[in-house]
Amino acid sequence: VSDILTDSFGRLHTYLRISLTERCNLRCMYCMPAEGVDLTPNPQLLSLNEIVRLANLFVSSGVTKIRLTGGEPTIRRDIEEICLQLSNLSGLKTLAMTTNGIVLANKLPRLRECGLSLLNISLDTLVPAKFEFMTRRKGHERVMKSIDAAIQLGYNPVKVNCVVMRGFNDDEICDFVELTRERPINVRFIEFMPFDGNVWNVKKLVPYSEMLDIVGKKFTGLQRIQDHPTETAKNFRIDGHQGTVSFITSMTEHFCAGCNRLRLLADGNFKVCLFGPSEVSLKDPLRSGVDDNELKEIIGAAVKRKKAAHAGMLDIAKTPNRPMIHIGG
Ligand code: GTP
Ligand code: 5AD
Ligand code: SF4
Repeated sequence: VSDILTDSFGRLHTYLRISLTERCNLRCMYCMPAEGVDLTPNPQLLSLNEIVRLANLFVSSGVTKIRLTGGEPTIRRDIEEICLQLSNLSGLKTLAMTTNGIVLANKLPRLRECGLSLLNISLDTLVPAKFEFMTRRKGHERVMKSIDAAIQLGYNPVKVNCVVMRGFNDDEICDFVELTRERPINVRFIEFMPFDGNVWNVKKLVPYSEMLDIVGKKFTGLQRIQDHPTETAKNFRIDGHQGTVSFITSMTEHFCAGCNRLRLLADGNFKVCLFGPSEVSLKDPLRSGVDDNELKEIIGAAVKRKKAAHAGMLDIAKTPNRPMIHIGG
């Protein structure tokens, strides 16, 4: 283990998010424009072998957790093989995925056999018609089925990610909390974040303090659970509920001081901060035949350039980034 994954603020990066594709079978309004986004041509995307080579380098440098994202990771044809090879990397403790759950239910038993150990499923509304409006596609029932399939297979907790937008789904917060009464799920309310093409506006953001107030008024016995310093979520339990409720407060109370996350994008770019516009290609040097030590130098230099925190919500809204679908969260 070398120190290439420690930044200039002493943060050790043990969590790598790998985006497997820029494509998705939904069109969520907070993630991309209705017309979609420009796609990187297939030959310019990382192949299975390239992903495994890079992941192996990160794991041998200290990464213990990999999360697969997208786009929608389950639509990649070699998803099972990717899971199998990554989960076998020596030193990796957790192989996680964030998915929209549209085509998950059928694939999940096999993915579990291939080593997928943690599952976060996105669901922003419990009303099918609203689902169609927010995602610009049908599929509400399929996502609910996938959540149930994940519970049945023993994923615990299944995390349900709900991006809260004022005027769209903020009236459903308590209904989502209600789901945790009988189910071992962790419902996570996420503050709406700005990315290119998602028409972010501070008025659509429902701040953590307001969400907490809404939940606290309806559910008595809401108790904060001490979370790990590197966690994105502030976690709570409610008396009598099997599941838990959390808030991801990227905008009003950022958690950058404990950041342990790095990102490898589908096109082979390496991104050290979700909101940092600076990226460096790992694919180009890899394809030009450099050895692992040279790749590690490039990675280490990028990590050392990471800023202490993002620039604040109004500034990041003005700074060009990528559309969320290219980054994967
Ligand atoms: P766990 O590993 O289960 O804790 O999940 P996670 O929160 O790391 O990942 P997930 O893909 O479920 O993301 C949930 C939300 O957190 C999404 O809106 C992400 O964009 C956001 N998120 C994840 N990592 C970061 C980060 O480093 N910075 C910020 N600001 N937001 C993040
Ligand atoms: N703000 C907050 N969260 C977002 N996600 C996608 N776009 C945004 C946004 N603009 C969430 C997805 C998914 C996770 C990877 O990021 O819902 O659960
Ligand atoms: Fe880490 Fe950047 Fe997210 Fe802050 S905004 S938690 S530094 S990735």
